[in-house]
Amino acid sequence: MIVAIDGPAGSGKSTIASALAKRFGFEKLDTGAMYRAVAFTAQDRGIDLDDEEAVTALASTVTIRFAPGEGMSRITVDDRDVSREIRTPAVDATVSKVAAYAGVRKAMLEPQRAAAQEHDIVAEGRDIGTVVFPKADVKVFLTADPRERARRRVLQRHAGEAIDAHSLEREVDETLAALERRDAADSGRAVAPLIEAEDAVEIDSTAYSIDEVCDRIAELIEERR
Ligand code: DC
Repeated sequence: MIVAIDGPAGSGKSTIASALAKRFGFEKLDTGAMYRAVAFTAQDRGIDLDDEEAVTALASTVTIRFAPGEGMSRITVDDRDVSREIRTPAVDATVSKVAAYAGVRKAMLEPQRAAAQEHDIVAEGRDIGTVVFPKADVKVFLTADPRERARRRVLQRHAGEAIDAHSLEREVDETLAALERRDAADSGRAVAPLIEAEDAVEIDSTAYSIDEVCDRIAELIEERR
């Protein structure tokens, strides 16, 4: 069983995919983490991100692995754990450039498809239902109002910390601008842009809780079982 969840940054894909994977005993495949791992490693090794050939060569030679287990949340590049390093604002700002390179996408395709041969999976990203798994059993296109998406990102960043309303709103404004830049880059690129698959079920999560969205997708999964 392959469950594909695509959608823009901050739409809740990762949280929803993790919850569904747990509920059904599937593995979660976070494809964004793979593009982030390439962007981080290129920067870390001093590769010019504008040099498409060099970035593509890197993506084609490194070994990216997820530690199997709950949520496959740990990611390594050539056995170095980069799980924390890939979640910085620096990587947020540069990952879209790397993800737009055709050679980088080609290099990521094989390990993404291989993951589905070993397990039932919930895969999340931008081109899962269109390019990676066009025959996925369940396809969801998850959206949410941009300001709500930015707000979720900020709250996630400050998980467990107190933040006053004024600081929250200011950070939401900044995050919204960065998020809209990334959405435009991911949707506007020539190769595998973020678009909704024709046979995807669109779910707008703005007004729904995580559980409500999961229940709706769980119904779709049960229908296909
Ligand atoms: O889901 P995320 O924010 O971690 O993704 C990081 C970036 O990777 C995002 O800006 C677009 C890119 N990406 C992609 O191009 N294709 C995917 N399947 C997943 C992510």
